[in-house]
Amino acid sequence: MSKSKPTGVTRREFLKRIAAAGGYAATYQAMAGLGLLTTQSGCGTETLALTEGNGTQVIILGAGVAGMSAAYEMSKRGYSCKIIEARNRAGGRNETARHGTTLQEIDSVQTCNFDNDPGLYANLGPARLPHHHRNVLGYCKEFNIALEIFSNDNRAAFFHDSKAFGGQPVQTKRLLADSRGAIAELFAKTIKKNALDEDMNAEDQEKLLAYLKNFGDLNAQHQYTGSSRAGFKDTVHATMTPGVIQAPLDFKQILTSEFWDYKMHFAEGTDQAATMFQPVGGMDKIVDGFYARVSGLVELETEVLEIRNTMSGVEVDCKNLNTGDTKTLEAKFCICTIPITVLRNIPNNFDTAINVAMTGVTYEKSGKAAFQSTRFWEEQGVYGGISWTDQDITQMWYPASGFHQAQGIIVGAYIWDEAQCVRFANQTPTERIESCKLQGEAIHAGYSRMVKNGITRSWHKMKYQQGAWRTDLPEIPEILQGAIGQVYLAGEHMSMLPGWQEGSIISAQKVMEEISHRVEL
Ligand code: ALA
Repeated sequence: MSKSKPTGVTRREFLKRIAAAGGYAATYQAMAGLGLLTTQSGCGTETLALTEGNGTQVIILGAGVAGMSAAYEMSKRGYSCKIIEARNRAGGRNETARHGTTLQEIDSVQTCNFDNDPGLYANLGPARLPHHHRNVLGYCKEFNIALEIFSNDNRAAFFHDSKAFGGQPVQTKRLLADSRGAIAELFAKTIKKNALDEDMNAEDQEKLLAYLKNFGDLNAQHQYTGSSRAGFKDTVHATMTPGVIQAPLDFKQILTSEFWDYKMHFAEGTDQAATMFQPVGGMDKIVDGFYARVSGLVELETEVLEIRNTMSGVEVDCKNLNTGDTKTLEAKFCICTIPITVLRNIPNNFDTAINVAMTGVTYEKSGKAAFQSTRFWEEQGVYGGISWTDQDITQMWYPASGFHQAQGIIVGAYIWDEAQCVRFANQTPTERIESCKLQGEAIHAGYSRMVKNGITRSWHKMKYQQGAWRTDLPEIPEILQGAIGQVYLAGEHMSMLPGWQEGSIISAQKVMEEISHRVEL
């Protein structure tokens, strides 16, 4: 791995500047460029530089992806690891609901009544894997977890905005084609009015006009009169006559719709762009892969009561949630992957500044709903991808696999905006389901009658998570990033990829290396 510094600035400063300009994704790419991450094929942990542990005891709090990846890697290198997990399952927010799953929140319990079929599942937490998240994909490869294509982008899916197009859903392909056409026509007009004469010579302006003609599918006069890219007037164009081009959508309506806000280019974001994957049969295949290798190290249903640095290591008081028995575990080091929302309420003897810093960390209160249904969307030519709406449910996800099977699972809400999340969280599961059904009607008439066996998850209402993922901003305070005595914080929230399993794994790698350096000394 190259460790060379960019000239003139420290690596840290350089990364900070990139983060300021381009956010976490840009920083992640920059880190990869500097050789600070492994982004080649294979798993980043192949190059994890860990000193032999020689039995050094490490207590890991939380059996999510960060905690289990740390236990897996450190055990291989001679560290003696134990994982404490409060819930009755490993995986943390990587959780998949299927027939019989119990969904317990702080004030409700639901049972998943999907038919007992391996293809009928809902990923309540992470549900997609970007192609450049090499560590998580590396583990999928190592654990023989079959992957299939997941698509964010489906031009046959819908965009619905109650303020535009008479509140009717519009196919994404139409919005995209008509937006491009309108923009290209306007731009072409400005060129023809010589508005760019100071910026471009005549030859380049000609080239730009040709570019715009192709970009927007303009006619010879550089006007946009509609395009086959938007789909034909009759949904099915299967006759012997040519399809009829639809009149373009009113551009003022497109501007009103806020389609362009971030929804238009969502599937072009670094972490959302094709190729995206999902594990066949549910995201928790990744949990199963880790758990098969570390289950002997995990104590489930054990709640952490207090964490203390001592003169020689760390002590963790914990309670068995079945028996009520308490005990104190001792180790040389602790990797704590407990979400900050939960950790900040666990007594500790950390410096006051650490506790103050934790109070400022914010989390998304994201929620999801999912329903079983006949695959009515496929009858409309919708195979996978996402429909968008300005209602609280925000998104609908169509299953990316099992095409033409009798039944499928539709994600009937995926919410991350604060106000919408709070409204969702504060409803009972039954209220959430009824509300999601009603909102779904705006995109698919008859939806509320077609879907059944609804389940919901508000991560904000999960006792041991209290949030879905750390919000991108403000940045994680620097004071939380290093050693807190013998304790190191890890998890998606400690990475520059909050909300991604890749971030969890990278953060675990970082603290493993830091612990290893101390063992070396
Ligand atoms: N990584 C999460 C998503 O893709 C937040 O929705």
